[in-house]
This record gives sequence, structure tokens and C-alpha cells, in this order.
Amino acid sequence: MKIAFFEVKDWEKEYIKKRIKGKLLFFQEPIDEIPFNLIKDVEVISIFIGVEINSKILSKLKKIKAIVTRSTGYDHINLRECKKRKIKVYNVPDYGQNTVAEHTFALILSLSRKINRAYEKTTRGNFSLDELKGFDLKGKTIGIIGMGSIGKHVARIANGFEMKILAYDIHSNMEFEKKFHLKYSGMNNLLKNSDIVTLHCPYNKKTHHLINAKNINLMKKDALLINTARGGLIDTKELVKALGSKKLGGAGLDVLEEEGLIKEEAELLSTNFPKEKIESLLENHILLTFNNVIITPHMAFYSEEALKRILDTTIENIDSIIKNKPCDSLVKF
Ligand code: NAI
Repeated sequence: MKIAFFEVKDWEKEYIKKRIKGKLLFFQEPIDEIPFNLIKDVEVISIFIGVEINSKILSKLKKIKAIVTRSTGYDHINLRECKKRKIKVYNVPDYGQNTVAEHTFALILSLSRKINRAYEKTTRGNFSLDELKGFDLKGKTIGIIGMGSIGKHVARIANGFEMKILAYDIHSNMEFEKKFHLKYSGMNNLLKNSDIVTLHCPYNKKTHHLINAKNINLMKKDALLINTARGGLIDTKELVKALGSKKLGGAGLDVLEEEGLIKEEAELLSTNFPKEKIESLLENHILLTFNNVIITPHMAFYSEEALKRILDTTIENIDSIIKNKPCDSLVKF
């Protein structure tokens, strides 16, 4: 079977080559930048999120049987065209829930133990403990907004720290109360009673500025606000006010409002993603001026294991195509 991979890095190429037998073609560029005479007879393509797979592209791939996207989302693939041409589509349903939860705790611990400030001081040769007193997580209350795949891992880790857990979700799952020793609560009650509030719900019209002028002041004085979900969940202006007036103790942000609508993290790995535009937008971000704010560049999903899980699922998907076996990642349409 002739299989073409697009937007692959060297390490990915080596990883895939060891695990799939067949006629493999590897390209660092997206599919729309490759001369079609090189790929016209491929039967499977493995793609990323940046290029729309439409009838124009599909009509040139005369022998194509399957599209394997290395992303969770598949709305960059025209499913109607695929159905018409009997092309199967496979995705990567999940790969990094624990990864994002671990990064959430990296942000929490950096703030609770003032790691960023300590690091800045020691690099300047200053080893004094002034302004470095932190606080324990044990016994503190963490409020988890969105108890889905990532929220669950956050609760599991919080259990290890012996924290109390309040959770808010539009769909409560009472089994979680027992399993993770947590209490479901209304959102306002969660904000009033949590020492740390962490966001793990999707961004949509209903969750736009979920944390806003009306409710940010309900938060405990000195509480931490952590966001590894989407920037638009927080009204940045209000967060800046709350930090400026020393109402909040700090913020740990992997995502910022200015990033706009990133559908899913795989976009950030794509060669088509305009990183420079975002960099220049964020360069002078006011939140960077606070010493109790930690900003990371939308990297919560970005661990070696998570990236390998994307490839492992892709390899399993291709194996099921080669062996004509059923596969959980086959997109139903
Ligand atoms: P999920 O779909 O498994 O869970 C989301 C949960 O939020 C669900 O339980 C849902 O019922 C709940 N929810 C929906 N609307 C809500 C609302 N208005 N208030 C409270 N809860 C609400 O999603 P998952 O996998 O846990 O991911 C959560 C978010 O994390 C994603 O939407 C994505 O934006 C973000 N994410 C960020 C990454 C990063 O690298 N920073 C990586 C992966 C995801």
C-alpha cells in the first residue's frame, strides 16, 4: 500500500518507518505544496489540520482509499466528498488529557511556591528568601470548572495533594463525587470558596467571558486563577483589574484571549500556523508585567508522550486499513 505523510518532522519519520511496512512517502510540507505527480497514486494520506481536503485535492488523488488525520478534529476534511468517493476518514480521538492536567499543576506549583520569582532571583545571583514564601496545596480547595476528560485528571492529581475539590459542570456525574472525593457546586459558590480556580470547559458562545466583571470579585482574596483551556473564557480586562488591585493572588495562563479561535492544539503543530503573528500580538501583553502571573505559550498539550500517542494512534489507524480490521478511530459519517 502506498502511504504519504505530510508535515512530518524527522523524528516522526523515523518513528513511523520503524512501525509501518509499505511504500511510505514523507513530506515536511503540507499536501497543497507538493507536486501532485509525486503523490497521484497514493492510497492513504496522513495529514495535519492546516489544509482543507476538498474535492479539488481529492480529484487528483485517483487511488485514495483513506485519510488519516493526526488531529482530533476533522472539519478540515470534506466528508461529503469522501462519502461520494468511498474514502474512509480516521482521527485521533484523544491523546493528552493527563498531559494538560500535569501542566495545570506545573502552573499551580510555580505560583504557589513562587518558582518563577525564585528562578529570576537565583539567575541574578540572589539567594535570599525575601518574597519567596509559598503556600501548601494540602488542605486547600481547588475549584474545577469543567469536569470532562482533563478536569478528571486534575481531580485525580489534586487527590494526591490531599486538596479539597469543588467541581462545576453543566452535566454533573455523581460517580465522580465518590471516585475523586469531590463536591459538585454552583459556579458562584465554587468561586467564593476555592483557593485555586482552574478552567477546563470548552470555549463557545455560552462560555465567552465565563470569568467576568460580575463574578471575578466573588473569588477569595489571594486566590489563584489557572487557565489551560481557552483565553476567551476570561475577560482579560477584568483579570488585569483584579490583579492590579491585589484582589487575586496570581494567575497561571497557558492560553490568552488574543490567540483568537484555535480550534484544537494540532493547529499549533502545523507548519501553516502563523506563530509570528501571535508572537507580535502578545509581545507587549500587559499580563506579562505582573510578577504573580505565569504565561506559557499554549504548550499544555506538548509533551513527548502526547506527541507519540498521536503517532501511535495514527499507526494503529493505518494498520487497521492495511489489515482491513475494525478501528475505533474510524469517523462515522
Ligand atoms: P471535555 O469535552 O472532555 O470536557 C469539557 C467539560 O466541560 C465537559 O464535562 C462539559 O460538560 C463541561 N462544560 C461545557 N460547558 C460548560 C460550562 N458552561 N460550564 C462548566 N462546564 C462546562 O474536554 P477536555 O478534553 O477536558 O478539554 C477541555 C478544554 O481544554 C478544551 O475545550 C480545550 O479548549 C482545552 N484544551 C487545551 C489544551 C492546551 O494545550 N492548552 C489541550 C487540550 C484541550
